[in-house]
Amino acid sequence: MSFAVHHRTHTCGELRREHCGQQVRLAGWVNRRRDHGGLIFLDLRDRYGITQIVCDPSRSAEAHRVASEVRAEYVIEVTGTVTPRLPGTENPHLATGEIEVAAATIQVLNPSRVPPFPIADESRADEILRLKYRYLDLRRPKMRDNMILRHRLIKAMRDYLDERGFLEIETPILIKSTPEGARDYLVPSRLYPGHFYALPQSPQQLKQLLMVAGLDRYFQIARCFRDEDQRADRQPEFTQLDIEMAFVDENDVMNLIEGLLIFLVERVAQKRIKQKPFPRLSYREALERYGTDRPDLRFELPLVTISDLASGTFGVFQQALAAGGAVKGIRVPGAAGYSRREVEELTDFARSHGAKGLVSLAISPTGELKSPLTKFLSSEQVQAIVARMQAGPGDLLLFVADRVEVCNEVLSRLRLHLAERLQLVDPQELAFCWVVDFPLLSYNAEEGRYEAEHNPFSGMAEEDVPLLETEPLKVRSRQYDIICNGTEIGGGSIRINVAPLLHKVFSLMRYSDEEIRERFGHMLEAFEYGAPPHGGIALGLDRLVMILAGEQTIREVIAFPKTQSAQDVLLNAPSPVDEQQLRELHLQVRTGDQSPQPSVHN
Ligand code: AMO
Ligand code: AMP
Repeated sequence: MSFAVHHRTHTCGELRREHCGQQVRLAGWVNRRRDHGGLIFLDLRDRYGITQIVCDPSRSAEAHRVASEVRAEYVIEVTGTVTPRLPGTENPHLATGEIEVAAATIQVLNPSRVPPFPIADESRADEILRLKYRYLDLRRPKMRDNMILRHRLIKAMRDYLDERGFLEIETPILIKSTPEGARDYLVPSRLYPGHFYALPQSPQQLKQLLMVAGLDRYFQIARCFRDEDQRADRQPEFTQLDIEMAFVDENDVMNLIEGLLIFLVERVAQKRIKQKPFPRLSYREALERYGTDRPDLRFELPLVTISDLASGTFGVFQQALAAGGAVKGIRVPGAAGYSRREVEELTDFARSHGAKGLVSLAISPTGELKSPLTKFLSSEQVQAIVARMQAGPGDLLLFVADRVEVCNEVLSRLRLHLAERLQLVDPQELAFCWVVDFPLLSYNAEEGRYEAEHNPFSGMAEEDVPLLETEPLKVRSRQYDIICNGTEIGGGSIRINVAPLLHKVFSLMRYSDEEIRERFGHMLEAFEYGAPPHGGIALGLDRLVMILAGEQTIREVIAFPKTQSAQDVLLNAPSPVDEQQLRELHLQVRTGDQSPQPSVHN
């Protein structure tokens, strides 16, 4: 492919030894300038790479003069001759490292102010500054590579789905509230005073309506908007690969997505997958064994319940069990030699996540046990615990006694912490798993109503339907979540496609008949016109790209993200609007509502 355009014959990443002798014209940004007294070297950078320009005053005094005046980030155009570098001065780290361009002319196309952070060296810069000057930040190779990877992945998704008969269909952004469990972003209507559009939290209802429409296989690279607390892997607006299919069951959707993910990881991002086919865990197993419904399976370190072995005279255990709680532990291989201080650090870590403490049991390499437990429990009891934990000489066992939710929360965090500490993670390898058999509903005791675990449109196991009347919390949904390296990268379900059942779920969520009609009447009505069985999924595209790029936050793979406090510091949004606009929108701002300062924290 040729990138030759008016200001250049080649890109800065293109020239090789075989081009030597050619007259070329390059254009780009000055990455670095090195003045060696006689010779001046410029590293010229564009999206494609870096080419060294050498300015020799005996060859072109004028080019040398201009070169002496340019600074970092000036945009220049250079003409010259491709020449081999002198033996010993080649740069093996640069694709163009065997050659340089001997400058005949240099023209400044546009100078640059001194940038607020260096572009050439990718040292860490303050994130707010990077976001404020994102157009400079995006010049850095790492960010450029992230944008390229994102593009490649989206392109591959489109091709993969197109080859399988999927249609890419756009759905509107100005819609009515569609619940995914977050707050809506609202857009006031000028034409209808006091009325608002909501931005979609997802295209959920619309994609289901496309199935009713008979379009059968839909996908969309869909922008979603959710006003919720920000975290490293959350943005107020983010992108999903959204999919819906008619006449399918769980396996049809999961197989499609599994094939797609394997293709993206292995063929596009060129990384390895730890286990194929992806393991499937029930929600219950995931919580029992990993303490979370998004387990990181790059390493094992399972949690083990020892409640039944822990009865006895040890107060810490007794209290928790008497209160209906549990005792769960984790085996830290080879950690028996941790110092008192190291164990204390782990205990502090556990406390910071809600534990009252941590009971330790160390098995020395020669098999001696060191633990407060040995004072209170019989040696048979201790041996039974050691056996249950599958522990041996050299291991350290750590236990938490508490409500089972606390045990899970603390130990799941400790598990991740220990994996990092023990360096159990191979950065080139990804571990996927499916989590299935979620409960359909959870109970919000504060508000006295049931809430959908996924979204209210999720279907349920056929045989569990009668339980909706008697024990709604026992109803298993037809939801499936896909997890990668401990991050939820997607979720979906086989849907309800009959109106009365959907109505029933909304009633359990304590919507009145009136509210159901007003908010979801269109869905109930659509289901009365021949709605096929259908289901789908949405992948969090930003999260997937983040993992494949090896980044820690999704902001690194979004061209123009919001800060952790939901602000766009480049465009300066949100911002006040003038009185006239407010009047047109029939809005009035309450005085005293202040705007917060931008800040970033992880
Ligand atoms: P869900 O709400 O699970 O499902 O969203 C699907 C995936 O989107 C990603 N995600 C986010 N990514 C970045 N920032 C956010 N604020 C954010 N919120 C969610 C996650 C998540 O797994 N309509 C259903 C899908 C379906 O049932 O088909 C839905 O939106 O990776
Ligand atoms: P204490 O009785 O608070 O002095 O704690 C005695 C030991 O038990 C300390 O090592 C604590 O870290 C630990 N411990 C206290 N409560 C718990 C608990 N709920 N689960 C696990 N360990 C605990």
